[in-house]
Amino acid sequence: MLAAYAVRTAPDDPLSALVVDHRPQPEVPEGWARVRVKAASLNHHDVWSLRGVGLDVNRMPMILGCDAAGVDESGQDVVVHALIGDPDWRGDETLDPRRSLLSERHQGTFADEVVVPRRNLVPKPAELSWEEAASLPTAWLTAYRMLFVKSGVQPGGTVLVQGAGGGVSTALIRLGAAAGYRVWATSRDEAKRARAMELGAELSFEPGARLPERVDAVMETVGAATWNHSLKSLRQGGTVVISGATSGPNPPAGDLNRIFFLQLRVIGSTMGTRDELVQLIRFCQLTGVRPVIDTVLPLEDARDGFARLVAGDVMGKIVFTRG
Ligand SMILES: NC(=O)c1ccc[n+]([C@@H]2O[C@H](COP(=O)([O-])OP(=O)(O)OC[C@H]3O[C@@H](n4cnc5c(N)ncnc54)[C@H](OP(=O)(O)O)[C@@H]3O)[C@@H](O)[C@H]2O)c1
Repeated sequence: MLAAYAVRTAPDDPLSALVVDHRPQPEVPEGWARVRVKAASLNHHDVWSLRGVGLDVNRMPMILGCDAAGVDESGQDVVVHALIGDPDWRGDETLDPRRSLLSERHQGTFADEVVVPRRNLVPKPAELSWEEAASLPTAWLTAYRMLFVKSGVQPGGTVLVQGAGGGVSTALIRLGAAAGYRVWATSRDEAKRARAMELGAELSFEPGARLPERVDAVMETVGAATWNHSLKSLRQGGTVVISGATSGPNPPAGDLNRIFFLQLRVIGSTMGTRDELVQLIRFCQLTGVRPVIDTVLPLEDARDGFARLVAGDVMGKIVFTRG
């Protein structure tokens, strides 16, 4: 079957570690299900894997891709929950120390077929396209949990989204605006700042800009490049929710005084549970909100999609499709 996979790690030239070619059809373990992939979306996680972050070289070749929508063996249209947990774990599966994401230990979704535990399948409503459904399980689920589960901010509150163009960030803007939050966003790019406002942001700013007033929460996925601005943008007692550090994980720790003196909360967030994925899908159905899709490409052209993401030349999701 056709697949896009990593053959080695290449920290400085991730595209050189990517191959788009044929791989054997996967076996289906007991209790797992085979899904014929109709669409699979690209995440920054896939670029990290090629760079050697979170992917062990001994597991290669590894088919990349966390997210998919497709058809299971019984003909049901499904969305694939990307988080693979220990079957004996009880409670919030994002806290399971043995959890992994598809494409870390188990072969991922950029292929004709993916094999996952049956409990990871969630029904896909007909009103979501394959491309929309395939955009939800990682970036959109992460945004849902950051905003509605972790931030503690109620609708009506003001939320700043750093780095508007990303998959997670565009989800935060759309979800926040639809739920009645006042959403502000930053982006390095003028066209993306304008697009953020079309998506529902009330205001958009250059990175580091002084805001009209301090915000209740900042949604942080950019990391080192925006961290100080995130802390400076919070009101007393405000919350920064962080789920990523694309520009680097080690910002200068110059703002510790600010954190305790203003009683700021720094909250980590990772992915979301299967139940939250079901709620996210229902949220999309009820509000009419749909994932922001930048580009749809056939899987054969996956390299072009990866190149766009590496260059940061994206507003929303890149999705790969199969016939
Ligand atoms: N913890 C989790 O479960 C989880 C889940 C999903 C994602 N993540 C992480 O969250 C991050 C975002 O993921 P994604 O898939 O949304 O990635 P993405 O689509 O590639 O978005 C990255 C965005 O970050 C901004 N950015 C990148 N480098 C920057 C820099 N040097 N200065 C300022 N802004 C910069 C850009 O915004 P502008 O171009 O608009 O400035 C860009 O659009 C990644 O690091 C990913 O690994 C974590």
